[in-house]
Amino acid sequence: MKKLILVVDDDQVFNRLLVEQIGDMGFEVLGAHSWAEASVILAEREPDLVFLDLRLPDADTPQLVETLAGQFPVIVLTGYGSIRNAVSLIQAGAAEYLTKPVSLDELEITIRRELENAELRQRNAFYQRQMASRRPGPLIGESKAMDELRSLIDAVAPTDATVLIQGESGTGKEMVAQAIHQGSLRHEREMLTIDGGTLQETLFESELFGHERGAFTGADRQKKGLIEEAAGSTLFLDEIGETTPANQAKLLRVLETGTFRRVGGAKTLKSDVRFVVATNRDLAEVSQNGGFRSDLYFRLASFVIKVPPLRERREDIPLLAEHFLQRFSRGIERKLVPEARKLLLAYDWPGNVRELRNLIERAAILAGREERIRPEHFGALASRREDAVVFAFDHEPRLEDVERECLRQSLARHDGNRAKVAAVLGISERNIYRLIKQYELGD
Ligand SMILES: Nc1ncnc2c1ncn2[C@@H]1O[C@H](COP(=O)(O)OP(=O)(O)OP(=O)(O)O)[C@@H](O)[C@H]1O
Ligand SMILES: [Mg+2]
Repeated sequence: MKKLILVVDDDQVFNRLLVEQIGDMGFEVLGAHSWAEASVILAEREPDLVFLDLRLPDADTPQLVETLAGQFPVIVLTGYGSIRNAVSLIQAGAAEYLTKPVSLDELEITIRRELENAELRQRNAFYQRQMASRRPGPLIGESKAMDELRSLIDAVAPTDATVLIQGESGTGKEMVAQAIHQGSLRHEREMLTIDGGTLQETLFESELFGHERGAFTGADRQKKGLIEEAAGSTLFLDEIGETTPANQAKLLRVLETGTFRRVGGAKTLKSDVRFVVATNRDLAEVSQNGGFRSDLYFRLASFVIKVPPLRERREDIPLLAEHFLQRFSRGIERKLVPEARKLLLAYDWPGNVRELRNLIERAAILAGREERIRPEHFGALASRREDAVVFAFDHEPRLEDVERECLRQSLARHDGNRAKVAAVLGISERNIYRLIKQYELGD
């Protein structure tokens, strides 16, 4: 596609000349004789480079340079080659300034150089954004559960073993997968991800294994699958519980033999990927009930990492909250007031770390310039009745699960005061002691 260059100069003759000359260099050019005219064009088109006359009838060019320079390179045309003007223009962000009359050579060299610079800058920014979004943050948490998790990760990461990560939604399974990849010898290449849940059976298959030309309607050329793309790296297979039985069989084959075939292909290819898979379902149970191939389950179960739900490691809640608060506060030093902290600690987080993260991000926005995060910033969470008992199970609960959870929350709310809890729940204190023991809720 041709690059678009906009020339803004009220000198009719010079403008036409410049437009013609730049057009001859193979660029698309538009001319405007005032800032008003230029604005109309800018509302519709995105130029790759703009020439601005230093003296425009209806705008202050140095000021324009300041606002426009971040969007595209601006080259200022000046009738008076005064150094003083030039310095202040460059400081304002102009890419370059040219003194009229402009020689053809100088014009072309400047345009090509500035376009190239802009492209480099853009590509750089793109890579940096990508790196930043990929660079996995540290796993936050100092609970015993997190310590154990970290030592499991450290132990298995450098091996090539297949790992099954199990945990409720939002607990950090993908982060764990990244940590395993980063701790492996394969970390120099990026980890690739495929989602077992979002793709239909045949699409998943060709995504993963690739296909040969003519394998199905629309397969007009050969395509490598993610197994090949991720050679030498790690392939993260998310939501493995959602894959179809046929694909489970093919996965089992890769895991057992290290070989695979592209869809519609006859060649047997060797795989060089390390598989890390994740699910938020209890695969042991699902496979017992016939919802998942048990041979694949047993193959995967040789190394399982369970990521515990947030409510089972409450001591991590404040740490994570502070972590996200810093992250979403853009340099503002922020603090949770004690009541806000209490609110977070009392909640059960069915959506786990992701829910906490989203809540904090929202609170940071609502707090605006305020430094103190107060319960009001937590919206619905703050208006929850203090004495409400909320149940969140990742399975259909048994009555005793409900009883245990009810007792646990009551104890937490009344600071472990057994007499109070007995009164609230309408049973004798003796029974409270018995239940605490039975459910191992004592300290
Ligand atoms: N221990 C942690 N420290 C810091 N951030 C975390 C931690 N655990 C999770 N997060 C953050 O919480 C969010 C959810 O994590 P992640 O996507 O890894 O969860 P998941 O278990 O894969 O969820 P799902 O089952 O819904 O796919 C992410 O933004 C992640 O960065
Ligand atoms: Mg995930």
